Amino acid sequence: QYTAEPFVPDGADLPALRRAAAGCHGCPLHREATQTVFGAGDTHARVMLVGEQPGDQEDRQGRPFVGPAGKLLDRALAEAGIDPAHAYVTNAVKHFKFTQAEPRKRRIHKAPSLREMTACGPWLAAELALVEPELIVILGATAGKALLGSSFRVGQVRGTVLEEEIHGRPERLVPTVHPSAVLRADDREQAYQGLVADLKVAARALT
Ligand code: URA
Ligand code: SF4
Repeated sequence: QYTAEPFVPDGADLPALRRAAAGCHGCPLHREATQTVFGAGDTHARVMLVGEQPGDQEDRQGRPFVGPAGKLLDRALAEAGIDPAHAYVTNAVKHFKFTQAEPRKRRIHKAPSLREMTACGPWLAAELALVEPELIVILGATAGKALLGSSFRVGQVRGTVLEEEIHGRPERLVPTVHPSAVLRADDREQAYQGLVADLKVAARALT
């Protein structure tokens, strides 16, 4: 049974949590990845954005959403009226999972398994308990499954405000698509406008 649980210190603040996560061996993903990519942003943020896992750029730089998907997300947030500087941004899984045909070849993102999502869950739970956001924005299916269970389907609930109990606390959540899905969409402009529309629902829920 993979789990980050023994690596999560009791009573830690966010910087201490981040330092501890750097040494997490809770599942095999730490072996191939460069580093743990912990959440980043304002400890007192009103909104927490949860993605899937770091990508290639995030793995190299050690910060979430700094690559192409992050650039698109920042633009969509600004357009929806949510200041990215006032958000806390993190991922369901904190290490980059990828396949690589040969060393030095491009690293291709692989979706994390349910076991890996479950293993990494204690970090996300600890972040939630410390930041105590007023609203959680779920970016895509992986984040949704990590927070709401494996039956989560983003298409059914995107752009709505859900009220669910997570780790014993009532939370309000707005699910939307993952920004990487927008980058891959046939009609990128339409997909992007859909993301912005969902984020506007989140912005309204914050006022
Ligand atoms: N995609 C994610 O889900 N998270 C990141 O940090 C970057 C890309
Ligand atoms: Fe630990 Fe999560 Fe990394 Fe697995 S993915 S080693 S549980 S931080």
